[in-house]
Amino acid sequence: MIQCRDIHKAFPIGKETVEILRGINLDVAKGEFVAIVGESGSGKSTFLNVLSGIMPTDQGEMIIADAHLEQMNENELALFRRGHLGFIFQSYNLLPQLSAIENVEMPLIFAGVPKAERRQQAKTMLSKVGLSERFDHLPSELSGGQQQRVAIARALVNNPQVILADEPTGNLDSKTSIEILDLLKQLNRDEGMTFVVVTHSHVVYEYADRLIEMKDGLLVKEEQKGEK
Ligand SMILES: Nc1ncnc2c1ncn2[C@@H]1O[C@H](COP(=O)(O)OP(=O)(O)O)[C@@H](O)[C@H]1O
Ligand SMILES: [Mg+2]
Repeated sequence: MIQCRDIHKAFPIGKETVEILRGINLDVAKGEFVAIVGESGSGKSTFLNVLSGIMPTDQGEMIIADAHLEQMNENELALFRRGHLGFIFQSYNLLPQLSAIENVEMPLIFAGVPKAERRQQAKTMLSKVGLSERFDHLPSELSGGQQQRVAIARALVNNPQVILADEPTGNLDSKTSIEILDLLKQLNRDEGMTFVVVTHSHVVYEYADRLIEMKDGLLVKEEQKGEK
């Protein structure tokens, strides 16, 4: 589902250019739940940004669902992301003036789904993440864990093939983190989407099919996991 070949990315820092990604190779199979764990500053967010085409790569190939992202222009990338990728962030990134259901509907509006249908799909998705009682709440009226559930529903609502999550439990206490990881794993199983989660937290260890360690812009160690 995902193939990365020799991805490099450097940033100008002062007069210097610092290489942050130093040749990343990664293959992720359809339906796999892969966790990339590394210390803060190891390049995890940069990798996800490059992988999703949000940031251009300096070198290398990124293939998602047989499409070469490094060969696309801005418009093609925006369309590809909308159709194939779902994103989950540490900070939820919900629109504060919109209710839970309106936040979840956003990707469907961009996809041109008619109103009644998008309401229904958003309701179904919010129910799947355990928020059937919270459709009309604003983000400020929800706990951190509930806000992240809304963000997860929004990421999954248009049925993307790949979900990319950057520190999805970074703002949550350990009990809520476990609930959110349980939910991601359950959705991964039920919906069959491919998950790539990057985090500095080893809590993810039990949930991933495969655990990869990132260090100084390289993927250094892999561990295949059994079933949880
Ligand atoms: N846009 C940028 N410009 C310059 N340096 C950056 C930029 N984005 C990230 N970096 C640097 O790249 C390194 C890796 O950052 P990041 O990918 O955010 O790491 P992680 O997500 O693993 O904490 C850090 O040293 C950071 O300062
Ligand atoms: Mg980061």
